[in-house]
Amino acid sequence: MSDKNTKNEKMEAIVSLAKRRGFIYQGSEVYGGLSGTWDYGPLGVALKRNIMNLWWKMFVEDREDVYGVDAAILMNQKVWKASGHVETFTDPLVEDLNTKQRFRADHLLKDAGFEVDGLSLDDMTTLIRENDVKSPNGNPLSDVRTFNMMFKTTVGPVEDETSVSYLRPETAQGIFTNYRNVVDSFYPDLPFGLAQQGKAFRNEISPRDFIFRSREFEQMEIEYFIDPANWEAEFNNWVVLVHEWTDALGLPAENVHELEVPEADRAHYSKRTIDFEFDFPIGREELLGLAYRGSFDLDNIQREAGKNMAYVVKGTNTKFIPHVIEPSFGVERTLMAVLSSAYTEDEVNGEKRVFLKLPEHLAPVKYAVSPLLKNKPELVAKAREVYAILKKKHGNVMWDDNGNIGKRYRRQDEIGTPYCVVIDFDTLEDNAVTIRQRDTTEQKRVAISEL
Ligand code: GLY
Repeated sequence: MSDKNTKNEKMEAIVSLAKRRGFIYQGSEVYGGLSGTWDYGPLGVALKRNIMNLWWKMFVEDREDVYGVDAAILMNQKVWKASGHVETFTDPLVEDLNTKQRFRADHLLKDAGFEVDGLSLDDMTTLIRENDVKSPNGNPLSDVRTFNMMFKTTVGPVEDETSVSYLRPETAQGIFTNYRNVVDSFYPDLPFGLAQQGKAFRNEISPRDFIFRSREFEQMEIEYFIDPANWEAEFNNWVVLVHEWTDALGLPAENVHELEVPEADRAHYSKRTIDFEFDFPIGREELLGLAYRGSFDLDNIQREAGKNMAYVVKGTNTKFIPHVIEPSFGVERTLMAVLSSAYTEDEVNGEKRVFLKLPEHLAPVKYAVSPLLKNKPELVAKAREVYAILKKKHGNVMWDDNGNIGKRYRRQDEIGTPYCVVIDFDTLEDNAVTIRQRDTTEQKRVAISEL
C-alpha cells in the first residue's frame, strides 16, 4: 500500500473517531449539511478550548507585553477597503464549462502534478490549455479568474452600498483598529502586542480536508508592535516562540517545518513570511504563519481614517508608526495537528487498540472515574465520593460505569483520557483506588487522599 493511501486511511480513521466519539460533526448535518462548516461536540469543544486557553495563557497572561482585545466581527466596510481585502483577497477560480461547478485552479493544477507557487492567473490558464487539464468531472475548464473570498452582507434595514459589510476574513483588522485606543488607555512601552481570538470567515471555493480548510473558522492572532529598526531580531524571536508553542502542543519537532515564503507568494501586506508547516495525514500543509506586516495596516488607517497612528517614545520627542510582526494561528488546523499526532494504534493483550496520546493538559477528559461493578451500591457510593473530589479539583472529569472495565478503558483510551480511576472492594477497606495510565496501560494503587 502506498504511503499516501496509508495516510488517507489515517485521516479517515480520525474523521470517523471524531464523529463517533463526539468531537466534530458536519455543520447542519441533520439538514444535509452546509459545506465548509463544522460543529464541535462535547469533547471537541473541550479540546478546542484547552488549546485556545493554553495559547491565551502562554501569549497573553504569562507575558507583560501582550494585551488582549475582543473586537466585533462586523466592521465598517472602510476597514476592508483600506486593508486591501476588497481589492485583493481573492483565490483563483475555474469553472467546469459543462456543469458550471467551480474549483480552485491552483488546487486542480497541484493535484494534476504541476508546481503552482508564484503563478499568475494567465500562467494557470496557459498551463490548463497547454496540458489539456480537465475538471474532476472530465470536462473542459474556463479561463482562470479571481474570486473574492469575503462573505458580503448588509447591516441594518436598508440594503444599499453604504450598508455593505463583510464577515471578517481575519481577526487582525479588529486589532489594528483598536491600536490607538489601547495606546491611549495603557501607553505601553514598545514592543508590545495585542492578541485576539475569534471567528473568521472565508468563502472558500472548495472547502476540503476535514476541518483544515473550512468557510467558518477560528483564529488566534497577535499583532506585535515594534520599532522598525529592530524588526529582524523581533521576527527571529517570534520564530523561537512559535516553536515553543508547537512543543507545548506536543507536536513532534520533526513534523514541524519552516517554509520561507517567496515574495510572489506572500500576502499583499507582508515583507517577510515564514509558513510553519506540519506533516498532517493529508500531507505537509500550513499550520500557521508568521508575517512581517511592516506599517502597512497602521499607514492605511492613518491615511484612510485621518487618525494619527504615530507612537511617541516615552520621555522623548521620537515618534514613528510602529511596524508589526504577526504570528497568526488557525485553531482548527492546530486541533487537527494535535489530533493527528495523538492518534495511535497499538496492541494490548493481542487486541488492536486505538488511543489518543493527547498531552494531559489538552485532553478533554483528564480522569474517568468508575465503580468496578455498577450494581454494587456501596462501590457506586464510594466512587461518587471520589468523583466529586476530582470533579471539584479538575472539572474535566467523567463518570463512566457503562459496560465492563475493559470496555471502559478502551472507550476512554479512544478519547485520550490519561487516567482511569477505579473503585473496587479493597477501596472500601483501604481508601485507595486503582489508577490506570492510558499510554502504558499500567495500573497502580493510590490513596484517595493522594489523588
Ligand atoms: N491575519 C493573517 C491571516 O489571517 O492570514
